[in-house]
Amino acid sequence: MKGLQIISVGAAHPSKVVTNDDLSKIVETSDEWISSRTGIHSRFFCGDGESCVSMAIESSKAALERSGLEKEKIGCVIVATISGDYATPSVACMVQRALALREDIPVLDVNAACSGFIYALSVCQGLLEANGEKYGLVVGMEQLSRLLNMEDRSTCVLFGDGGGSVIVEQSENAVFKSVLGAKGGEEILCGGAGTKDQTIKMDGGAVFKFAVTALPYCMKKLFSFEKEDGKNYSIDDISQVICHQANSRIIDHCVKKLKANPDKFYKNMDHFGNTSAGSIPLAIEELWRMGRLDENCKLMLIGFGSGLTWGGCIISFNAKRP
Ligand SMILES: CC(C)(COP(=O)(O)OP(=O)(O)OC[C@H]1O[C@@H](n2cnc3c(N)ncnc32)[C@H](O)[C@@H]1OP(=O)(O)O)[C@@H](O)C(=O)NCCC(=O)NCCS
Repeated sequence: MKGLQIISVGAAHPSKVVTNDDLSKIVETSDEWISSRTGIHSRFFCGDGESCVSMAIESSKAALERSGLEKEKIGCVIVATISGDYATPSVACMVQRALALREDIPVLDVNAACSGFIYALSVCQGLLEANGEKYGLVVGMEQLSRLLNMEDRSTCVLFGDGGGSVIVEQSENAVFKSVLGAKGGEEILCGGAGTKDQTIKMDGGAVFKFAVTALPYCMKKLFSFEKEDGKNYSIDDISQVICHQANSRIIDHCVKKLKANPDKFYKNMDHFGNTSAGSIPLAIEELWRMGRLDENCKLMLIGFGSGLTWGGCIISFNAKRP
């Protein structure tokens, strides 16, 4: 199978910033409690006229425009989300319509919570290969503020809204190695349409334990893939490791356990909070915009979250510098 390379990126988040101090006026909490346990200082919440769909359209327009591709070249649209505007139509269908993309391509949402963006990249690769297409639009976007119980201080301080879009190209010269899995747990739970309580509940301790096991496990599996020269991938082949931005302590714990260089592990949950499927593409776009990603480098992406799903990939990144 050919590999995948990200050839352009776009991101979107709402305009309203909500700080830890703002939250401390709503629930009994403090900036000190939240930032010391999570690394989060502020997040964005959608206001009037902003939603998962509107942000997915905005970030996808930016990614398509930056790619310089004609829109007819896009061969599938996959959106990773758990917080779409409607149960149906999917966010992907609404992006397809807004960008006037082709009507003879697969267009769907993927629900794998915070691992969603990795799952979506894998689904995209499979569909491009099966249908003989070259380019796909992959989005990770969330409006988690609509799923929060603002009286539950153990969850409402953790999450935020936003995400990003990438255009990927299937190519002989690119790399895409992925691992995906799930334990089927209910440690993070949110009722669906028709249920009484449609807000996020979480066993924070159990999720923390799962995350600090899943992350190094994924990395180990990814480093067991062989390169073309027969040697295994190593951290030296990777420009940045971009983990799901749930909590800085989860990433710090793993960096320490792996005796890894912390500079290779990007963190931006301080100003976005946990945006579930949105966090990895938000981080990729931010790194790219800061000029920290070389053309033709490799990224390691790792997600973990509700379900308890996990997923990781090594993917080529070959977008023109901003
Ligand atoms: C959620 C998390 C930050 C909680 O940190 P913790 O140190 O384990 O805190 P605990 O849950 O043990 O709670 C400790 C106390 O703080 C309180 N507390 C919980 N949220 C609080 C808040 N926002 N402000 C102040 N106090 C809070 C609890 O009520 C508890 O009080 P008690 O001892 O009187 O019962 C931590 O478990 C975590 O990071 N889990 C992973 C969550 C995650 O990342 N999920 C998404 C994965 S995709």
